[in-house]
Amino acid sequence: MPEAPDLALDGDDRRRIADALRYLGRDLHHRSFGVTSERRKLLWQEMDRCLALAERINGEVDADVASQPAELPALVQGKGAVLITGASSGIGAALARRLAPTLAGGEAPLVLTARRLERLEALAAELAHRHGIRVETIAADLAQAGGAKVLLQVLLQRQLAVHTLINNAGFGLRGTYEAVAWPQAAAMLQLMVGSCAELCHALLPAMQRAGSGRIVNVASLAGLVPGLPGSTLYGACKAFLIHFSQSLALENRDRGVRVIALCPGYVRSEFHAVLGVEERMRQRLPGLLWMNAEELADRTVAALEGSRTVVVPGAVNRLIAGLADSLPEPATNALSSAFSRRYRQE
Ligand SMILES: NC(=O)c1ccc[n+]([C@@H]2O[C@H](COP(=O)([O-])OP(=O)(O)OC[C@H]3O[C@@H](n4cnc5c(N)ncnc54)[C@H](OP(=O)(O)O)[C@@H]3O)[C@@H](O)[C@H]2O)c1
Repeated sequence: MPEAPDLALDGDDRRRIADALRYLGRDLHHRSFGVTSERRKLLWQEMDRCLALAERINGEVDADVASQPAELPALVQGKGAVLITGASSGIGAALARRLAPTLAGGEAPLVLTARRLERLEALAAELAHRHGIRVETIAADLAQAGGAKVLLQVLLQRQLAVHTLINNAGFGLRGTYEAVAWPQAAAMLQLMVGSCAELCHALLPAMQRAGSGRIVNVASLAGLVPGLPGSTLYGACKAFLIHFSQSLALENRDRGVRVIALCPGYVRSEFHAVLGVEERMRQRLPGLLWMNAEELADRTVAALEGSRTVVVPGAVNRLIAGLADSLPEPATNALSSAFSRRYRQE
């Protein structure tokens, strides 16, 4: 007799099975009309079993998920790691360089994650050498469903408690909404919404228990100004991060956890090269709109000491945010369309 396959079902698999059972239950209910009363009784019994099993499976998955943060190591004051996503380039790497000296002389490690491990390792070696600190690197694709879980699993294996979480990894997309292939759109939602929310959800309880922690969600000015054509999902993801951070900040105000939504304007990094608009942006966009990643990192660390939740670094960016807030809708629409035609859309 052939051996039964080893079915290692993860939480997503079990939720899918629960959804299928619920669907089957509803279908049985639908079919129970127009049959004999005896048959209807049998169908309803079967429907009840399907729905009860779906509830049981979902309950077990929820219990597993709820038990996850407790498995992560407890946060001890002064020993928690600084975790930066998207640390292989641009703003993430600049934040790593800016925060590394603050860890010197303590036990807290710096944890760098992104997909390009060789970049992370080079940066880790540089910072460990220069500041005498422990730097851990973790390769993870946070745009994949389950990517954040992989990262959390490694934190658990290495017994790394996180005191400062910087959700920074991100990318842009070009073109109108329907022109973007769905896998790319789904990757953006997963990376810039799903994984950020999941990491906060998993790491926050330890910060609350310790009465000390920091979360920086790297949003964008694009999340504060009205939606730009050609930046449909990007602006929406960043607006999500801003609202999400505002609620989190209020929920945690008296629990020692500081939460900010960082809303930079244009920053020199690899972002626009990845987007394929680097040359056009650099040539056409006035220099005063650009900020160096190092300057942004300095302003971020200063903002962590302050009290604002939504942090717009730089006077020009604050002026743009203020104008977007106060101009009438036809004016902002006209400006958004003209801007996107010139810089973003083909
Ligand atoms: N540059 C700007 O003008 C600007 C303005 C406002 C806000 N921002 C935001 O700032 C953040 C950092 O961007 P940046 O300007 O520093 O751009 P960048 O230089 O292109 O850096 C993006 C980082 O995200 C990582 N990343 C991308 N896809 C990933 C994935 N699937 N899984 C894990 N990591 C991934 C990249 O690493 P790997 O490729 O190695 O995975 C890289 O480290 C983003 O959230 C961006 O939206 C940028």
